[in-house]
Parts: sequence; structure tokens; C-alpha cells
Amino acid sequence: MDTLTPISTTTTDSYRPALHYTAKDTWLNDPNGLIFHDGVYHLYYQNNPLGNVWGNMSWGHATSTDLLAWTEHPVAIACDENEDIFSGSIVYDRQNTSGFGNGSVAPLVAIYTSAYKPGSMHEGVQAQSLAYSLDGGYTWTKHTGNPVLNRGSAEFRDPKVIRYDGDAGSYWVMVAVEAKDFQVVLYKSDDLKNWELLSTFGPANATGGVWECPDLFPLPVDGDPANLRWVLTVNLNPGGPNNGSAGQYFIGDFDGTTFTSASTITEGLQDADRLGEYRWLDWGRDYYAAVSFSDAPDNRRLMIAWMNNWDYANHIPTTPWRSPMSLAREISLQASDGKLCLVQQPAGDLAALAQPESFRLSETTIHDGVQVLAGAAGTVQRIDASFTPGSAEEFGLILRGDGTKGTRVGIRPGQAQLFVDRRESGKTDFHASFLSIDTAPALPQDGSYDLTIYVDRCSVEVFAQGGQVTMTELIFPAETSTDLAVYAVGGGATINSLKVTQLA
Ligand code: FRU
Repeated sequence: MDTLTPISTTTTDSYRPALHYTAKDTWLNDPNGLIFHDGVYHLYYQNNPLGNVWGNMSWGHATSTDLLAWTEHPVAIACDENEDIFSGSIVYDRQNTSGFGNGSVAPLVAIYTSAYKPGSMHEGVQAQSLAYSLDGGYTWTKHTGNPVLNRGSAEFRDPKVIRYDGDAGSYWVMVAVEAKDFQVVLYKSDDLKNWELLSTFGPANATGGVWECPDLFPLPVDGDPANLRWVLTVNLNPGGPNNGSAGQYFIGDFDGTTFTSASTITEGLQDADRLGEYRWLDWGRDYYAAVSFSDAPDNRRLMIAWMNNWDYANHIPTTPWRSPMSLAREISLQASDGKLCLVQQPAGDLAALAQPESFRLSETTIHDGVQVLAGAAGTVQRIDASFTPGSAEEFGLILRGDGTKGTRVGIRPGQAQLFVDRRESGKTDFHASFLSIDTAPALPQDGSYDLTIYVDRCSVEVFAQGGQVTMTELIFPAETSTDLAVYAVGGGATINSLKVTQLA
């Protein structure tokens, strides 16, 4: 995290997303304590209640019934003179194992990292603490016995607690990190207060930056509940595939004690040369601290990430708010060409927001150059595009454009590569590391590249290869840059179909 200076205050509400959560007038980072409870999705998050740069870390709070429209509530768990409230999770303690219940109401229990401040009793330590709510998550009381798990470490944080029910028994399991050791640590508990070390995982695969915000969950392969695998996700910063913050995942098994990865790469080159081989939750620059909901309905595995990157997070040109959350995504596990991989799709019912007028093209050849599509302009839209490569070395879309300038989302078929080029995306000069061309490996399916793209004022989320590859990026275009264009370089390509749906 870098030096924090407040930005100047020009109004930037043309950047305020329509479909993504932002705090009204404050800073946010990681999603925390995601839980579905009593018919409501709760999104807590790292929040500075007093400003729009990182600091005074507390848990902000918002709720939604559809994962699209969010209502902001007062700060849920506030920092005090002793501790900042760092990331963590929430469980519904149905059996009142913690004893925080009051006889008729079972508690929601938050497990968070106490980042102890200078001069406090545990100065310099990060340890795990509890708070509980008896009113469905709106007001919280800190446990008087905090911290409940202290290793004397300065880098022990981001507890995600799940209920394990399996061959080894039934108990709470915590995954957290020793961030600088590139290690996930696993603990078990019967009452959320007393914790016993189970095992550790890592270092493994990407270790170019501290490990943060882990998660562990089972998923059925191709929807078959008899064929479960466990997924361990770990965010790291920096060290992502296109620099800075990103999230990697491992697929394997968890026997109640140990997570065993089947997707760790141990052979060959240096870490920096293998980034393309690792499994990334998202290849874009702005998808960090992804974590999943507890108790999501219908056994869905739903994740939200912070849509920003520590490389430039405190400098993005929005005010008075800073940083959106990603769209909520549904995660599933597919066997594809003999390999298991995660597949992601937006979880909310975005189709319900579709406006009747949509732009369509079928079977059209694009030639060398840029062609603006009359009638396709917009700032909040879903774009479905299917391309078949021709002689062009590169082709794709220019969105939020102004003639030939804009954000390029394209394919380089010769390199089997998807990319987002934001060099001409609008405002880029607020930080040296923002300007970028970011790439992801992408393969055609039956000869075509199919992309679904969500554009929402200051962001682009690309779902490629049926959701196996995603790229999430912030952009800061001029309010008047609303064109959508197609383009090709060095030859032609075919648009099989193109559909633009305005969302409101
Ligand atoms: C990740 C992170 C966490 C920490 C929190 C502090 O972005 O650094 O590891 O708990 O942010 O705000």
C-alpha cells in the first residue's frame, strides 16, 4: 500500500457504475463477510468511513435481494483506538456453538482480523477476532475474549470460515494466510473460539507477492454431486499475470485436515515465466480479494471481488467514492479436454435489466480499419460478439469510443490471445502503472471466439471461452465517449453475430 494523498474533487459521477456496488462517498476495498441470510445478500467490505483513500479500516455494509441493486447501511464493525478491522468472513451459527445466541435467536458470527495498532496491547500483531449479531447482521458486538487466535504474527490475516461436514466429522474450518510466507493455514474449531491447527498449504504456484484473502469450497464436476472437488482460492499482491493484484486457484481435495492440490506446477521455469500456466480467477488488472458467499441459495457458489488493483488503487480518479465491487459471479467446475477448470458467469439476473431496443448484426465481414456501429452506442451494456478469424492479425471491438480512440477488447488469433488495451481508454495519467495492454490465453471454440462483455461506465468485464477465461478492467472514458466500433488490423475477420443490449 502506498502513500495516501486525497485527490482533488472534481465531480466524477459519469464514472459511478449502475450495476456494480460502490459506497456512496467513501473508500472501499475487499468484500468481507459475504452471506445470504433470511432472504438477503449481505456484502460487508473493507471501508474507510472517514475518507476515500485506504485507512481507518472498518467493515462497511450493504444488502441486496438480487445481487444488482444494493442498499448501503451504517458501518457494521468499526475500528477503534486498539485495532483496525481487516478482512474476514461471517457464518450463521445455527446450533449456537459459540454461545453468542440468546436462547431464541442463533447468532451470525463474524471472524475478522484484528490489526493491532501502535500502543495497543498486541501492537504490531495480526490475530483473529469475533463479533456477533443477533439482528440479522445489522448491528454487531465485539466478543470480549478477543483475539481468539493469536500466533504472534504480524502477517496472519483474512480468515474465511466454513462448516465442514464430511468423513472426518462436523466442525468449523478456518483458512487464513501467513501472507509473507505464501502459506494458507487451516484450523478447526467446535465453538469458533478455540482453534486447533490442522495443516498448511503453500508456497505453491504464483508467489510474486503476499498471499491474501483465501477461500476453500467444494464444487461438483459438471454439476454431478457424486463427483466433488475442492477449490482453494488465494489472492496475491503483486504478482498477477498482468502485474499487481490478482487471484489464483488450485483444484484438489480436502479430507477435513489437509488440502491436496492437483494443479500445482512444480517443474521448470522461474515463477515469472510460468504466470501463463497458472490458474487465475481473472486475468484482468481489477479483480482482487475475491471471496465467496456463505449459505448462498440452491448450493450456488457466488463470488464478489474488489474491482481495483493495489498498484494504483488509491489514485483512481473518482470522488467522493473510490472503488467498485465486481459483479457477483457464479462459479462452477467443468471438465474440459480432460482438464478441470472454473467457469464463471454473472450471478444476478441481468436479463431483467435489458432494454427492448437492441442492436444486432449477423454475418458481416470486417476489413482493415475501424468501423463505428451506428445505433450501438452506450455506457451500460451487454455485448455478445462472435468472431471467426480471417487474415487479420488482430480484430475486435472498441468500446466507450470516440471515433478511433477507446478501450480495445480484441483477439490475436495467431497468439491465441484475448486482450484489453486501455492505452486510449480515456483518463490514464493518474498513475504510471494504469496504462496497459493486458492479455489472457484464449482458444477458439469450433473455430470462433465468442465474447460476452459487460460495460458499466467505468469498467469492462469480459467473459470468454464460455466463462473459462475472464478479464476485468477499470476504464475512465470521457462522458461523451460512448461509441461502439469493430476493427481489424492487417486484414479481415468475420463477425458471425453481434448483439448489443442496453441495461438499465
Ligand atoms: C487485501 C488486504 C487484506 C487485508 C485488507 C486490509 O486487499 O490487504 O489482506 O485484510 O486488505 O484492508
